[in-house]
Amino acid sequence: MTSGGRETFLFETHPSPMAASEREALLQNPGFGRVLTDHMATIRYSEGRGWHDAKIEPRKAFELSPSTVVLHYAQEIFEGMKAYRLPDGGATLFRPDANARRFTNSANRLAMAPLPEDLFVESVRALVRTDRDWIPAAEGASLYLRPFMIATEAILGVKPSSDYLYCVIASPVGSYFKGGAPAVTLWVSENYTRAAPGGTGEAKCGGNYAASLAAQAEATREGCDQVVFLDAVEKRWIEELGGMNVFFVFEDGSLQTPPLTGTILPGITRDSLITLARDLGLTVREEPYSIDQWQADAESGRLTEAFACGTAAVVTPIGKVKGRTRNFTIGDGGAGPVAARLKATLLDIQNGRAPDRHGWLDRLF
Ligand code: PLP
Ligand code: COI
Repeated sequence: MTSGGRETFLFETHPSPMAASEREALLQNPGFGRVLTDHMATIRYSEGRGWHDAKIEPRKAFELSPSTVVLHYAQEIFEGMKAYRLPDGGATLFRPDANARRFTNSANRLAMAPLPEDLFVESVRALVRTDRDWIPAAEGASLYLRPFMIATEAILGVKPSSDYLYCVIASPVGSYFKGGAPAVTLWVSENYTRAAPGGTGEAKCGGNYAASLAAQAEATREGCDQVVFLDAVEKRWIEELGGMNVFFVFEDGSLQTPPLTGTILPGITRDSLITLARDLGLTVREEPYSIDQWQADAESGRLTEAFACGTAAVVTPIGKVKGRTRNFTIGDGGAGPVAARLKATLLDIQNGRAPDRHGWLDRLF
């Protein structure tokens, strides 16, 4: 099979898709990741044959041998992106080429067969076009796309799998945080780190999230929304949250975000916000920032805002930070103007209300 081109995909339409009335009811209040659409995209890989059998098919369960590699050695990667409704009823993806590139990098790090990037983008486009009625129209809602790949060889020896299954599922979503929280509280993880130099921190693999769950559970027990991880070497430098990057805003109007040193996920929202902030004339530094400095700057008022960002979180202000020995508030603990402006700027582009000056939109219909 050659890559690229919609004709590459075999289309198998769902014989009994969800009734429109039931679907519309679910789209009213979808939450995050609870509801899935009717179809999925799948492509298979086997050594010697390469990528083959690209399909859009009715969503169904997989059948796997109990000895399948992914179940034992977690050879798995994924992506997260969204399709947005446009004012004229059309729909768009946002920088799907960037997700495709990151998926390749993740595959290489996990010693998996890389999927041709045009095939990645085409699979997402084909699925969204098939399930177009599932894209919510409400403000702040979108269709979340989850491309992922698992190692499917059935063998208990530890080695890269010879076979893979790539799949894309879609889920209509509203806000990631319950009730669309105006500002979240973070828990500083001192017992756990997320990624070490040379590890898999910059890959989007399931194992990173499995490793973050005990820290996230600790955060929840402490009444916090998300965990913030420090670097694994000095336990000093702020890295990122369990599923989001982080930005700091200072009283001189400048912004700072931790640099991409290999231990944090290179967020596409992070990259887009750096560009948009600079377009607005703001200074953005990609430099390390320590937890002690964060507390000192929040307490002195030098730091005026902080926010989390990601596909799921969009731009979410950080109101409070707690830890075993710390507890501080940022600004007045609510949403700040810089985060609000950047969020609006980003959402206006994604929803087709502002010009797409950087060529980030990939219009689907
Ligand atoms: N960091 C982590 C650990 C994430 O899971 C995500 C979400 O994908 C991000 C950062 C933000 O990345 P993006 O903006 O590409 O969604
Ligand atoms: C995303 O924003 O796409 C994420 O991956 C965060 C989380 C839902 C895992």
